[in-house]
Amino acid sequence: MSIVDVQDLTVDLMAPHGVVRAVDGVSFHIDRGETVTIIGESGSGKSTTAMALLRLLPDDLAVLGGTATIDGKDVVGTRKHITALRGRTVALIPQDPMTALNPIATIERQMVEAIRLSHPELGKRDASARALELLRQVHLSVPERRLKSYPHQLSGGMLQRVLIAMAMSAEADLIVADEPTSALDVTVQAGILDLLLEIQEETGAAMLLITHDLGVARLMSDRIHVMKAGSFVESGPVEQVVDAPQHAYTRQLLAAIPALGAWQDPEATPEPVALPVAGAAEPAHRPRLLTTKGDVA
Ligand SMILES: Nc1ncnc2c1ncn2[C@@H]1O[C@H](COP(=O)(O)OP(=O)(O)OP(=O)(O)O)[C@@H](O)[C@H]1O
Ligand SMILES: [Mg+2]
Repeated sequence: MSIVDVQDLTVDLMAPHGVVRAVDGVSFHIDRGETVTIIGESGSGKSTTAMALLRLLPDDLAVLGGTATIDGKDVVGTRKHITALRGRTVALIPQDPMTALNPIATIERQMVEAIRLSHPELGKRDASARALELLRQVHLSVPERRLKSYPHQLSGGMLQRVLIAMAMSAEADLIVADEPTSALDVTVQAGILDLLLEIQEETGAAMLLITHDLGVARLMSDRIHVMKAGSFVESGPVEQVVDAPQHAYTRQLLAAIPALGAWQDPEATPEPVALPVAGAAEPAHRPRLLTTKGDVA
């Protein structure tokens, strides 16, 4: 059984000027341990697809159609399953590490809270020890000191490592990462992507990755779906989509990349390259950390 199975998902958003069909009948699945990437220009519906799956779109603003299951449980027809899945079976790595944490609480307090959500049997002291261990696993320097710090005392890359550590605390089977490195410097991006690959290798978690960046998609994915105006225009294994794109839109995206580097060279780390961005630069909604209580962190 796939960890994610989506059939004909549609999402209508109630906007002030009328109804927007942000997602128009997409179908995909993610097998256990697999990374599936949705790539496409800004406004194509990537985040809406992911947020609909996680039920993070406001119920009164978003109408969902089609079917979707996570770990076999219906997440579109009913709200009741996703609450139990979040922070346990599925963890979210948010797009902007700078705004995902509470500015007035220490890293330790926020990590302890996240850890105890998925491990209520742990006392504060044990959860704190676990937090330290997780910060070591994400290769954060001087983790003892970072634990006692407030978010503003850490850089964007460090904060993203903290958020990845929090996502890891759930030992989730599925990680949803919506543009996990877009807010970071190019040099920091590579380290975070390496870390995500390392975690996946260790934990066997599946990943739903969302990116504008073909370099990121190529490095991380098993399979890619190219999204345009709410629909998938092309889907396939990463090599096929990059090396032999069938759809004019995919070729257009690829043509916009000056040089991709040697695809054959397994040692080559492609420079992240941005796809052309149309429409709004800012996503209309911010992905939020799911490992704290409730819908928003
Ligand atoms: N809260 C909202 N209210 C109205 N329209 C919205 C809202 N959120 C998204 N949309 C619209 O839904 C469509 C899909 O947006 P979405 O954020 O999913 O795109 P995206 O592919 O994630 O883009 P980006 O790469 O910029 O993050 C767009 O047309 C957008 O304008
Ligand atoms: Mg988005």
